[in-house]
Amino acid sequence: MLLAACSSSPTEAPAGAASGAATAPAELPGQALFATNCAICHGPDGKRGLNGAHDLTKSNLNQMGRVYMVTNGLGQMPAFKGQLTPEQIEQVASYSLTLK
Ligand code: HEC
Repeated sequence: MLLAACSSSPTEAPAGAASGAATAPAELPGQALFATNCAICHGPDGKRGLNGAHDLTKSNLNQMGRVYMVTNGLGQMPAFKGQLTPEQIEQVASYSLTLK
């Protein structure tokens, strides 16, 4: 019975859709990235400001500016280029924009 259930034709499977959904985390992807990479200085809510880190809830930087900041770093802010993929940097930057 199990074998019969799995025998649908492979040509009928929607190519891209299945592979992406399988690995997608339940929460916002940027949230987990922020917790592991950014919260240590910026705090889970973006307000900590350790070692002169700026309060992200008060930052005027837009998505582009934040992506640049995270990619290249500045002063005490480390560069995440090479540690995070460009896609992850986009995700963590857009998550930081949701912090209030
Ligand atoms: C080692 C501590 C540290 C970590 C980790 C860190 N930051 Fe920062 N961040 C800083 C510091 C310090 C500044 C201020 C830099 C300056 O202006 O000289 C800053 C500034 C920023 C700014 C600019 C805010 C503004 O308007 O001036 C953004 C956006 C930002 N960080 C996002 C992030 C994100 C997203 C992460 C995680 C991927 C992260 N940071 C990880 C220390 C850190």
